[in-house]
Amino acid sequence: MTLFETVFSGNDAVYGLTEGAINAAIEQHGADKAISFPNTAYSLPCYYAVTGVKVGTLGELKEALGVVKTLMTREMRTHDIFMSGVATALCAEFIEVLKYIDGAAPYEEPCYGHLADAVIRELGVPLVTGDIPGVAVILGKAPTTEDAVALVKSYQAQGILVTLVGDVIDQLAEAGMKTGANVRVIPLGKDVTAVIHVVSVALRAALIFGNITPGDAGSLMKYTMERVPAFVNAFAPLNDVIVACGAGAIALGFPVITNQEGVSEVPKSLIVQTDVSKFNATSLEARDIKIKITNIDIPVAFASAFEGEIIRRGDMQVEFDGSRVDCAELVQTVDASEIEDHKITVVGPEADEMELGSKNSIAYVVKVAGKNMQPDFEPVIERKFHNYINCIEGVYHTGQRDMQRIRISKDAFNAGFRIKHIGEVLYASVKNEFDAVVDKCEVVIYTDPAECTRIRHEVAIPTFDKRDDRLKSLTDESVDVYYSCILCQAFSPSHVCVVTPERLGLCGAVSWLDAKATNELDPNGPCQVITKERPIDERIGEYEDVNEAVQKFSQGALQDVSLYSIMEKPMTSCGCFECICGIEPFSNGVVITNREYAGMTPLGMTFPELASMTGGGVQTPGFMGHGKHFIGSKKFMKAEGGIERIVWMPKELKDTVAERVNATAKELYGIDNFTDMIGDETIATDPETLVAFLTEKNHPALSMEPMM
Ligand code: SF4
Ligand code: NI
Ligand code: NI
Repeated sequence: MTLFETVFSGNDAVYGLTEGAINAAIEQHGADKAISFPNTAYSLPCYYAVTGVKVGTLGELKEALGVVKTLMTREMRTHDIFMSGVATALCAEFIEVLKYIDGAAPYEEPCYGHLADAVIRELGVPLVTGDIPGVAVILGKAPTTEDAVALVKSYQAQGILVTLVGDVIDQLAEAGMKTGANVRVIPLGKDVTAVIHVVSVALRAALIFGNITPGDAGSLMKYTMERVPAFVNAFAPLNDVIVACGAGAIALGFPVITNQEGVSEVPKSLIVQTDVSKFNATSLEARDIKIKITNIDIPVAFASAFEGEIIRRGDMQVEFDGSRVDCAELVQTVDASEIEDHKITVVGPEADEMELGSKNSIAYVVKVAGKNMQPDFEPVIERKFHNYINCIEGVYHTGQRDMQRIRISKDAFNAGFRIKHIGEVLYASVKNEFDAVVDKCEVVIYTDPAECTRIRHEVAIPTFDKRDDRLKSLTDESVDVYYSCILCQAFSPSHVCVVTPERLGLCGAVSWLDAKATNELDPNGPCQVITKERPIDERIGEYEDVNEAVQKFSQGALQDVSLYSIMEKPMTSCGCFECICGIEPFSNGVVITNREYAGMTPLGMTFPELASMTGGGVQTPGFMGHGKHFIGSKKFMKAEGGIERIVWMPKELKDTVAERVNATAKELYGIDNFTDMIGDETIATDPETLVAFLTEKNHPALSMEPMM
């Protein structure tokens, strides 16, 4: 069979199945039955992205199938192959959505099935920073279980996000390999139609970050081709349906690599690689993915894919716990003459001398020297320790400063991992990432309990106190410059964050100090200095120089932004914001919700629905994406009255930010325990109950001027 015949026949087969399934569903539930994937603002995201139409019922699904049929042209041009591929993918989405009818949960562990919008938003930052350099879609059954494990591990070691469809899922389970989003290996489902769940991620990325208009299929495919670094590995034997799905992948710009012999190859798009051990190299080359190599001399793997790995009590060899015993982690700037580069010292017992399962003290001091080093960079470097130590396979780290907690697994220990290797990791990572400011680096790790107590109380805590005082003195008024951040332009081409001391980037990951350090490390990089010498309107925080910078960095897409208003010229959002804030008209206030909160808000919208109101680098008055830390800021929508406007937050978020919010409310308005006046989901998820609660609490927003 030719490629044409194969794709057409696969497409026809899936179409037939879909038609049958929809008819059967209508017969059973009626045409008015509502359908949608859960936790998404886009109902059937792929169909919506391609056509601009939101399907809501089974009857509409049937109509949509008619539209899909029009894509299935049967002339003998490459275009027909691509469109039939897209049609196959859309049919797969229809078949999958039927599984979710009546709120069913069709997927069981370890499979995920449909992925929530929130998952895509979380992927935003690691994708733009290159922390996740690519997305692999592995489909079918590997020649052997060992091949399957080796391939997945090879991607994992590179930080590539792996999604799995079909028998390979069982192969990994059989080998006892851990899977899950936290280790970047996501089994989607065993039916081939489950592949749509990763396609859905790519297309939603275009809607969320790229501001692609739903229905603009040309721009959509251009976006995925240029900006979503995905590729497919399809194991032989291929059938017509898999080939037809593959044609859909190629239409989106995702190359397909297979070990099926005799397939007619398409350069850079459909590639035969009979040696499965070379799938990795062939795929990266086909998709032009470059991997940043960090060579660290330790006996276990080191990769960002292990960042989310959790080590249970029973699997752990030893533990260090700053909440129980004296611990600390610290960066210290010293004179170059005082240290020896790459010297690593352990003062106190090594892991072999600690009892199995015991809780111990640890304090590591990373001494750095360099002519461009500034004490302001110390906390920036220090905050990366969490991420560095977590990337070690079999080592887990949480917390910071003197409250960190580390676990070393039995597996890592048995592989030869020791405490000194933490020093190796810190040394290599700091030198690698901060080479522009760190010329020399030495690490001292204390495990002797008395030494840990000394370091913590006499060295670390005084340093932290000094830094906190410095941070408190950093206000928008006290500094001479702000910084731009355009990291997210990889996905949101016109988005610019303006980062100030009192307003961090909306992803929550870039503070003014971080931006300053980033600028110092790479003066032509994503963070540039913005002066603030020519104010236009202090009330909303508008400056001529900031506007000029935003015009330049958005390539003219944005003309003017304010720093402190949600209504007038608000800052844009890319898509990876931690929180979203929106106007609540009945109370004159605003509601904030965060990515982790899956429930309803009094605006009648969930996080994904609210989040879809803004994004893609476009200004949307009334909605603002922002970082969690911004909530307690005195500059939080200052133009509209500030944090006094906050009427509702999910309880967990409220608890997290309570201390800062209450302090700010006390200082600005003289209100005690302001968070007690703010609603949450245990109080109200509809406007009437919320307003009644606010009235009872005499919430200040009720008597403020309307925002609209
Ligand atoms: Fe993206 Fe803004 Fe965060 Fe930079 S600060 S990474 S542009 S969200
Ligand atoms: Ni103590
Ligand atoms: Ni972003």
